[in-house]
Amino acid sequence: MRGRLTFVAGLVMTLLCLAVLATALIGLRGLANQYNVDRIVRVTLKTIHMLKNDQIPSVLPSQGIAGVQVIRPDGSVESSSVLLQGKPRMAFFQPPDTTVRQDMVHCDSTLWPDQCMVIVAIRVYSPNGDYLIYAADPVVPWYVDPRVDLLLFLGAGLIVAVTTFGTYLLVGRALRPVDAISEELATITASDLDHRVPVPRNHDEIRRLAETANATLDRLEEAVEQQRRFASDASHDLRSPLTAMRAEVEGALLDVETADWEHTGEAILGSIDRLQALVDDLLQIARLDSGAPGRMDPVDLAHLAATEIDRRRRRVRIIRELQPGVIIMGDRLRLARVLTNLLDNAERHANSVVVVKVYEEAGCGVLEVLDDGAGVPHDKREHVFQRFTRLDAARSRDAGGTGLGLAIARQICEGHGGTLGIEDSVKGARFVLRIPVSR
Ligand SMILES: Nc1ncnc2c1ncn2[C@@H]1O[C@H](COP(=O)(O)OP(=O)(O)OP(=O)(O)O)[C@@H](O)[C@H]1O
Ligand SMILES: [Mg+2]
Repeated sequence: MRGRLTFVAGLVMTLLCLAVLATALIGLRGLANQYNVDRIVRVTLKTIHMLKNDQIPSVLPSQGIAGVQVIRPDGSVESSSVLLQGKPRMAFFQPPDTTVRQDMVHCDSTLWPDQCMVIVAIRVYSPNGDYLIYAADPVVPWYVDPRVDLLLFLGAGLIVAVTTFGTYLLVGRALRPVDAISEELATITASDLDHRVPVPRNHDEIRRLAETANATLDRLEEAVEQQRRFASDASHDLRSPLTAMRAEVEGALLDVETADWEHTGEAILGSIDRLQALVDDLLQIARLDSGAPGRMDPVDLAHLAATEIDRRRRRVRIIRELQPGVIIMGDRLRLARVLTNLLDNAERHANSVVVVKVYEEAGCGVLEVLDDGAGVPHDKREHVFQRFTRLDAARSRDAGGTGLGLAIARQICEGHGGTLGIEDSVKGARFVLRIPVSR
């Protein structure tokens, strides 16, 4: 990038300088030509003066120009300057009758074969016929003057060099933080995510880049940490039923004759159920994590809730306040799973009653599950939605849960563009699910 920008800056400056040089040369040449013609005219005026005073010498003073000639009315040369002595007249054109002067550029003159000359002709009136005075000097070349050109080119070269080098230095300085950022990023690996890239002091795009990179690293670190926790929690939870099964079998094998095999079998079955539940949950989470979309059908929330409630073996009374016709687009099976989990939790924690409500509010279908149990402490409201979180109260009530239910439920809601959270209630826990309604 540094090389490219430097090249572009150098190129643009060179083109700009060339354009300025060309314009300057054209202007200079115009000025020099004007100056030249003025000089030639001055010489002719002096010659006219001499002619009028009858003081024409046989050799005219050339006064710094290439040549002067005085032509008699009959066309013969009366007098010429040094270099034109004995030569024919330099030109044959004459100023038109209406004027006294005419300028011309002659390139094929026999007197100056290799040069183009500016020739000024002036008619001088006299009673015996008009005299003509010709005066000539070389045309200013397109490059005007090699010394002036050299100066101009040196100046332009200096400007291009300074601009290019300046750009090289500036871009280098501007990009130094980017180098530092990429160096730091290159050292980061999955096992070493606590690095952060340096944030430059200037408030510019590079600072924003560094801040974005750091924010991304924050999220990555959190995700990796979560993944790590998840793996260790999952293996821990898988290990406990296995250990329990092993203990049962080992205990029974100690004394094969007297062992209570029926009890052992039941205990092992319990552990297998728990293993099965865990593996089901893990599979479900893997599927949700992979972002596999579910089916999208119109689902009537009241109908879904009624079906789920009817299907359960009830431990406590369930009161329904279901407003029909609240339709959302979603995956019926997954939504049923959310509801099952909320109802399981509510029944597990309720003292005597659970209330299920469905209604519409602010463009969202809302489903509430409220119980009259101990509730969830305010500072644990978010915590319970994390994977493998089980509060102490729940452990004492029921050893069977995996602590994955709410995490899965929230993930499903978010997959539907909705939210799931715990909101305030007079008593017990009030879980509220909101999903935008479908029109
Ligand atoms: N209605 C509730 N009242 C009080 N605490 C609750 C309620 N629902 C959930 N919790 C708390 O949140 C924790 C997490 O709930 P979650 O549903 O994720 O797991 P679980 O019910 O323990 O296990 P699983 O649902 O996987 O069988 C529970 O262990 C419990 O401590
Ligand atoms: Mg649960």
